[in-house]
Amino acid sequence: MLRSRIISTGSYLPEKVLTNDDLEKMVDTSDEWITERTGIKERRIADESQAASDLAYEASKAALERAGLKADDIDLIIVATVTGDMPFPSTACILQDKLGAVNAVGFDINATCSGFLYSLYIADSLIKSRMHKRILVVGAEVLSRITDWEDKTTCVIFGDGAGAVIIEPTEEDRGILSMHINSDGRMWELLHMPGGGSRNPASIDTIKKKLHYIKMKGNETFKVAVRTLEDLVVKTLDENKLDASRLSLLIPHQANLRIIQATADRIGIPMDKVIVNIERYGNTSAASIPIALDEAVRTERIRDGDYILLEAFGGGFTWASALIRW
Ligand code: COA
Repeated sequence: MLRSRIISTGSYLPEKVLTNDDLEKMVDTSDEWITERTGIKERRIADESQAASDLAYEASKAALERAGLKADDIDLIIVATVTGDMPFPSTACILQDKLGAVNAVGFDINATCSGFLYSLYIADSLIKSRMHKRILVVGAEVLSRITDWEDKTTCVIFGDGAGAVIIEPTEEDRGILSMHINSDGRMWELLHMPGGGSRNPASIDTIKKKLHYIKMKGNETFKVAVRTLEDLVVKTLDENKLDASRLSLLIPHQANLRIIQATADRIGIPMDKVIVNIERYGNTSAASIPIALDEAVRTERIRDGDYILLEAFGGGFTWASALIRW
């Protein structure tokens, strides 16, 4: 049976660290509140000169190097992002240019924090249908550019970063076993950025009204996220007739430590089998899963044959999961 398989990973985090102590000096918050409510201690902030494609480039380069591949070995590039370099062209095309991936075709996917898994779903389908042979899937975000640094309810949460994977076909009994993607547009207003599109194109007025920043009803989003992710992980395991005890790792989107713990609890997986790095990077949206996956690979927390569950929830609302046998 033809499946797709992740053959390599890479990630990149900007050097600048913004700690909770730094944020205490910017808004009315405290290290104690942020740690208790989110699990975050610090996050990375891109340099002024860096856009999403620059972060994506570093992560992609690392994934290519680890695989021993050259950029022209890639035949498709998918970039998941809500903070692309510019409205058009796609960040994937800019990344293609930076990499010199002359044999590839590229496009972006916007599914907010579920963007990486949406992109992996498309890549997996294109491998299984034999349309493509070697795909670079990247999650890259510079959320610091759309963060309102005067809004304590959002500015403590987000961070910048990028992660990348390369996938190829395999006939072996491993790889991506199943994927689920879902959306429910009825609650889109709970998490969105109103300005900069055709609804509210950039103007002095949209800037004055702060429409170019993330707007989130955190508490309502939190409740839906917990409920939805709990159902999603149970459904993913049930459909694959896999008991949670056989999972070696859960790699969740890093939105909030309490959401991660609730999801792990629901399937009864201990926290030592859950990859958590939110304390160092905050919520990097589409980048968080490939960053966490890359760290898990590099620290040898994943071995051949392991069952791994990836899951994410984000604005839209969107949510998605992937069950992988490594
Ligand atoms: N520092 C101190 N106090 C803060 C604060 C901050 N950074 N942010 C909010 N508060 C205050 C609020 O003003 C509120 O005060 P009040 O009770 O006097 O009105 C109180 O804390 C509780 O606010 P609430 O929004 O209910 O907090 P919460 O426990 O829901 O935590 C989030 C807020 C954002 C951390 C949490 O809701 C969350 O993680 N939401 C989901 C995010 C998510 O999953 N997004 C989708 C994927 S990206």
